[in-house]
Amino acid sequence: MKINKAKLFLYLILTFLGFENKVYSSPNVKVLADLNFLQNMGITPDAQDDKLNLATATISQYQAIALSHFAHNFHKCGGFEDITPSKALFSKNDNVDNNNVDHDIFSTIQKYHTLNNNYSQFSVRKLNISKKEEITNAIEQLSESNLQKTVQWLSSFPSRYHKSEDGKKATESLITKLNSMIDSSGRTGITVELVPHIKTPQSSIRVTVPGSTHSDEIVVLGGHFDSIATWGLGKAPGADDNASGSSNILEAFRVFLTLPPQQRSVEFYWYAGEEAGLLGSAEIAAQYKNLGKKVISVLQLDMTLFPGDGELVIGDMTDFTSVWLRDILKELNTHYVGARFKEDKCGYGCSDHASWYKNGFPTAIPFEATMRTMNDNIHTINDVISPALNFNHSLAFTKLALAYIMELSNSDLKQPY
Ligand code: BES
Ligand code: ZN
Repeated sequence: MKINKAKLFLYLILTFLGFENKVYSSPNVKVLADLNFLQNMGITPDAQDDKLNLATATISQYQAIALSHFAHNFHKCGGFEDITPSKALFSKNDNVDNNNVDHDIFSTIQKYHTLNNNYSQFSVRKLNISKKEEITNAIEQLSESNLQKTVQWLSSFPSRYHKSEDGKKATESLITKLNSMIDSSGRTGITVELVPHIKTPQSSIRVTVPGSTHSDEIVVLGGHFDSIATWGLGKAPGADDNASGSSNILEAFRVFLTLPPQQRSVEFYWYAGEEAGLLGSAEIAAQYKNLGKKVISVLQLDMTLFPGDGELVIGDMTDFTSVWLRDILKELNTHYVGARFKEDKCGYGCSDHASWYKNGFPTAIPFEATMRTMNDNIHTINDVISPALNFNHSLAFTKLALAYIMELSNSDLKQPY
């Protein structure tokens, strides 16, 4: 066998840097990405939609990493989503007819974009959400120092990378914590599940608090649990990305446990494999669509600690999100939080909300800043707790999340389109 020395050298370096299981054990992937990024990198798309500025392409893992670096330079993250059909992990030369897959993806996204656009044209979009004392009181129970402790705890695992043993240990620890919180609350009927996946060895965590009268209607609050670092000898603390959102969800859940039962079901998620292309959430959202589950709304928390645009300035991402749910969050913010919302766009499906959106469910993602001013240390070993991170800023997202689950799980509000 002829050994390519350059390749061997590269392989040894990458192995030393902890890349081996990220790169070598994986075949090509099919991705959905920002069209401009792919073009600028000289990658030929399988298909493209100029209006959406999105394209699909079949690329190697090296190209995926290069794409990620390229996107980072433009204050984006990796900028791609893994849409490889799970049963057919293929190579570029395999004769797979992807035209239908590509067309379906663009037309589905276009359909929801149009619905949102049309709705946003209505000059009066009255929601009539009143301010409620029980929500104000519950919000007072939220603790900034709990957020700090949880972020400290989660970011002290060497990594929560989706293929790592450390990631597995972190997941098991969170499961233990959730079970003990539920046990000591004395509540019954609340389930904690590990949700296994096809495309990643990591499982997502789902906690279900069943509704008392409309348990088939589901209000989702989630964020990704995994972390990644491109160069890090296997270390990926992921304090902001996304121990922050994970801790917001845990703290909102802690207070939610103390409240009287609600009408609709609430599902809390800590998703697996987001950093490798929204892997966990994509499987869950597709399964929910296939099962015809009634998902009322999905709130995603991903990066809430770095106040890049100033304390209490929240990035209101307008792509892959629903005008209806964003309106609700703005109203809840006025009643209970008092932050300033600033509209911005990811430009691609940058987090797990996009998985739900593409399956037709209403989504929103309030973000720590804007894309231009977000934390630069993410996806590196430097994503750790530092004076640049602000737990009062992060608390605002926890308040919003708690107000969101309380309001939507006790009302008959539904997206009108
Ligand atoms: N937290 C980041 C991305 C992000 C950026 C979310 C701006 C919200 C606003 C997230 O964990 C991430 O890195 N996402 C990947 C997604 C990709 C793998 C589909 C990204 O942006 O590259
Ligand atoms: Zn990330």
